[in-house]
Amino acid sequence: MLAFLLIIGLLSAMFSGVAIFLIGNRVLDEAQNRVDSDLSAARQMYDAYSAALYDLVRFSADRFYLRDALIAGFPDIAAGELRGTMLREGLDFLTLTDADGVVSLRAAHPGVVGDSQAGDGVVAAALESRLPAVGTAVFAVDRLAAEAPAMVERARLELVETQAARAREGTVETSGLVLEAAAPVLDYNGEVLGVLYVGRLLSRRVEIVDLIKETIFSGERYRGEDIGTATIFLDDVRIATNVLNEDGSRALGTRVSEEVYQRVILEGQRWVGRAYVVNDWYITAYEPITDLAGDPIGMLYVGILEQPYTDLRTRTTLLFVGIAVAGVALAVVISFVISRRLSNPVRALVKASRQVAEGNLEVQVPVNSRDELGRLAGAFNSMAAALKARDEQLKEFARKRVMESERLAVVGQLAADVAHELNNPMQGIVTYSHLLLEKLPADDPQRVSVQKIVTQANRCSTIVRALLDFSRPKKPAKKLANLYTIIEECFSLLEARALFHNIEVVRDYAEGIPQAVVDPAQMQQVFMNLIINAAEAMGGAGKLTVTTRFETARRSIQITFRDTGHGISEEDMARIFDPFFTTKEVGHGTGLGLAISFGIVKEHGGTITVESQVGVGTAFTVELPLGSVAEVGS
Ligand SMILES: Nc1ncnc2c1ncn2[C@@H]1O[C@H](COP(=O)(O)OP(=O)(O)O)[C@@H](O)[C@H]1O
Ligand SMILES: [Mg+2]
Repeated sequence: MLAFLLIIGLLSAMFSGVAIFLIGNRVLDEAQNRVDSDLSAARQMYDAYSAALYDLVRFSADRFYLRDALIAGFPDIAAGELRGTMLREGLDFLTLTDADGVVSLRAAHPGVVGDSQAGDGVVAAALESRLPAVGTAVFAVDRLAAEAPAMVERARLELVETQAARAREGTVETSGLVLEAAAPVLDYNGEVLGVLYVGRLLSRRVEIVDLIKETIFSGERYRGEDIGTATIFLDDVRIATNVLNEDGSRALGTRVSEEVYQRVILEGQRWVGRAYVVNDWYITAYEPITDLAGDPIGMLYVGILEQPYTDLRTRTTLLFVGIAVAGVALAVVISFVISRRLSNPVRALVKASRQVAEGNLEVQVPVNSRDELGRLAGAFNSMAAALKARDEQLKEFARKRVMESERLAVVGQLAADVAHELNNPMQGIVTYSHLLLEKLPADDPQRVSVQKIVTQANRCSTIVRALLDFSRPKKPAKKLANLYTIIEECFSLLEARALFHNIEVVRDYAEGIPQAVVDPAQMQQVFMNLIINAAEAMGGAGKLTVTTRFETARRSIQITFRDTGHGISEEDMARIFDPFFTTKEVGHGTGLGLAISFGIVKEHGGTITVESQVGVGTAFTVELPLGSVAEVGS
């Protein structure tokens, strides 16, 4: 999940980074393109403004009263008309020269005449080409004073220092930027009578810049500020602008940066870029305003506030970051849900497994899904159920066993009591039946019956004693004994019996087996039981092999009695050591032989084991530890 989240996080960071970069650049590019074309529009307006002046002077120079006044040699005749034209058209000055360019009439400054303006750009052009001319020019203060004294004060600008302004000497701008147009006044033959020239001082004249602003930017505002601004510069100084100072006044007298100045005034190129204008960042475009000779004398500027664009960029950035963050958050939530769905069942399984380990087999985990986890939960549940079933079986089995052994204990106790009670009467019957038999003459017909009584009484007595042995096992009286001797004694006691007549006894004794610490009488009882059982299983005919071995590692002796009898069936095998279990017909077996033997061998710290195959034979193996001398006599 973490890796998955990491990938998603990285991818969205990458994508939003690239998108932000591309869109941010695109936004600023777009703004620069816009300002670039806005500047071209502004230039056209400036040119249209010039063209209007051009037309004005062209028509005015063509008026008959002017021509007639000049032909008559009395220019003053036209003074009234010309002054009217000047005021009506909002001109700052209107001047008439003779054919040599010598001023003969000044509508804005009556009386100041006689100076030659033949060197003035538009006047010279008009004289030379006999056609109207229009152009922008810089008028120094004395020229301003000569043409119209009112212009001196309007042109004068205190220079204002701003953060990015280029350095410059002086604190006042006294020159003025003038839009000037001239037209020749011709006689009826087309000869030049004089030149009429008019002009508008651009300093502090806001109509052009405000027209540009209103036309191009239609008064768009952003957070209380005009988005678009336009300015006319004289050299590097703002002389007509709608860029505002912080106090809301027009930022006249402020200057452009060195970088822009270098490019526009000195190199005569357009400049487009980000610039700090007066007190805010703008996306700006500047281009030179040239005089008639083509030299840059000022600049035309438009700029749009950068803030709306940077805000747009910020909003886009925020939007992208927001989307990325939201995406990652969504991924986190989804992975959390998925991992919960995965880990909850796993946790439930772990918990349930612990409970099973602690023995609570009732536990079941909920199966909520059909996927691998669901199947696992299902498998777990069936496992727990199976464990529970087996556990109950085992408990039931154990309960039965306990009941069984309780029952056996009761029966055993009863048998012991009965045997105890029967022992003395049986002794009496045995003794007296013997005596009776001895006293009877050899030919007495009763003798057969008495003999039977003796035999049966002996049997009863044997059973009773075996019962007593079993119910009150004696502590073994151990001493150092040779097990061969004990086995051989058994055979010598038994060999005479009819049961053994047809049995071949094979002795497979290992050599050098040490003596053991045992109770010889009890061991004899064990071996007798095993030998008689074997003989009975073989029905009195067969081979009985006695094998001895010394287990060096365990320091114990193994004695095996292997017969070729009928063997023991699987179901009997589990019960042959049970007291009273016998397969022999009533009156022939007590079912106590193996039970007693088992007890004795166990008391000696040994084991008794059996291997058997039905129809082939049986092997009983007694394994006895050598014992230690310390046990002797105990
Ligand atoms: N060597 C053997 N071969 C076959 N069955 C045997 C052998 N030894 C014991 N048994 C079986 O074990 C039963 C119990 O033996 P045991 O306790 O000696 O009682 P009993 O000999 O009185 O029947 C026998 O009835 C017999 O079925
Ligand atoms: Mg027996």
